[in-house]
Amino acid sequence: MTDKLLFRGGTLITASEMFEADILVADERIVAVGKDLTAPDAQVVDVQGKFLLPGGFDPHVHYDLPMFNTVSSDDHYTGTKAAAFGGTTTVMDFIPQDWPTLEEAYQAWRQKAAKSAVDYGFHMNITRWDDRTRAELPRLPEWGITSIKVFMAYNGRLRLQDGEIFEAMRLAWQHGILTMLHAENGDVIDILVREALEAGHTEPIWHARTRPPEGAVDAVLRGAMLAAQAEAPLYVVHMNTAGGAEMLQYAREQGVPVMGETCPQYLFFTEEDLKRPDGAKWICSPPMRTEADNDMLWHALEQGWMSTIGTDHCPFFYDGTKPIVYEGEEIAIPGKELGKDDFTKIPNGLPGVGDRLPVLWTEGVVKGRLTPQQFVAYTSTNPAKIFGLYPRKGTLAPGSDADIVVWDPDMKVTYGVAVAQHRTDYNLYEGWELTGFPVQVYLRGHLIVREGEWLGRRGMGQYLHCGQPTIL
Ligand code: URP
Ligand code: ZN
Ligand code: ZN
Repeated sequence: MTDKLLFRGGTLITASEMFEADILVADERIVAVGKDLTAPDAQVVDVQGKFLLPGGFDPHVHYDLPMFNTVSSDDHYTGTKAAAFGGTTTVMDFIPQDWPTLEEAYQAWRQKAAKSAVDYGFHMNITRWDDRTRAELPRLPEWGITSIKVFMAYNGRLRLQDGEIFEAMRLAWQHGILTMLHAENGDVIDILVREALEAGHTEPIWHARTRPPEGAVDAVLRGAMLAAQAEAPLYVVHMNTAGGAEMLQYAREQGVPVMGETCPQYLFFTEEDLKRPDGAKWICSPPMRTEADNDMLWHALEQGWMSTIGTDHCPFFYDGTKPIVYEGEEIAIPGKELGKDDFTKIPNGLPGVGDRLPVLWTEGVVKGRLTPQQFVAYTSTNPAKIFGLYPRKGTLAPGSDADIVVWDPDMKVTYGVAVAQHRTDYNLYEGWELTGFPVQVYLRGHLIVREGEWLGRRGMGQYLHCGQPTIL
């Protein structure tokens, strides 16, 4: 139960509109949206001069993910708290298929995620295609999971063969489950990695050089055409190349129900960043590419070829031998230093869940590349629709959860690790000058962030049962 709240005098932004209105909240939900609302028993929140946005929805995060003898450094509490500071109130996390059965994996992940501070749903990784998985897959919706992720790379670890992907996506869709795809060419990567190591190449730039962009372009088209043959929709995650965006658009023009997600890192950074002395900070898979790729991905967003912007938040410490202070305690988690002599041992992944909205507002909306409505569509409404949580999440309408971000469009922030709340020792946007920032964040009507102060609680996030996916 929450008190009644009346947000008065703000400008609402949804995926389709921008208009002045008040919002009345009671019992964790929005009960009315309109001009000059009155509710004598409500506490008034004066939001004159501010924008009101639906809480951000990040469709792609990895909390507590084991990788390369370590684990991603945000757990479900620290990572959801970081999300909230950046205006995101719903996240979707991936369950590794690291238990004998999917049900055990789901139960284990529910336990880990119970400490979440914002609302959360799950995708299930399918990294073994055997009779047991085939038999269990149709049960995922019983547990509120309506999306799986399959991999065309990470041979010998996560990868499925094309025939297995075809079969998985076909069976999944027969049971109302959407397939998500990691699109790279695992066979070519393996050969190039072996050759690079034999030649003594150990620096971070070789991570990009051994994962050529053409492999991603090939994989996006291959995935889309497998989806067409399986008569199933597909969602391609973390799209990083111009060619991949063009393949996405080509497939969509052919009527193939394929959707694309890109991430901020692919809009702002390039392989050149891997050549810096601290290049390991930028290691993720797939890698960042070139400015031409950045430009085409922006173009795909402007044109609506892409459906969402997630983060693929999967942070590691840059130097996990040096503790940082987090909530008053010293903590150090092995990180990128594990690969100082061998790029293949650098854990893959970056912080980003809290950066997404503030960075994209400045670089997208303020700089005129995205309308405010597109910003809301890509970062909240579309992911909520695709993963079966709309209109509970992703909009500001009567009946929706009162996940409300009060956005100050004039606030100036010098961004970086000291502002972002991720549990790691670096930030990709260090020193960036931002205009526009979330000043209050409400989760189901509860104020959880107020001007940089944490008012939320470990465990206050609710598990979300995802419904039937929507194809956008
Ligand atoms: O480097 C990344 N992206 N790590 C997370 C795993 C994945 O493939 O999304
Ligand atoms: Zn992936
Ligand atoms: Zn990921």
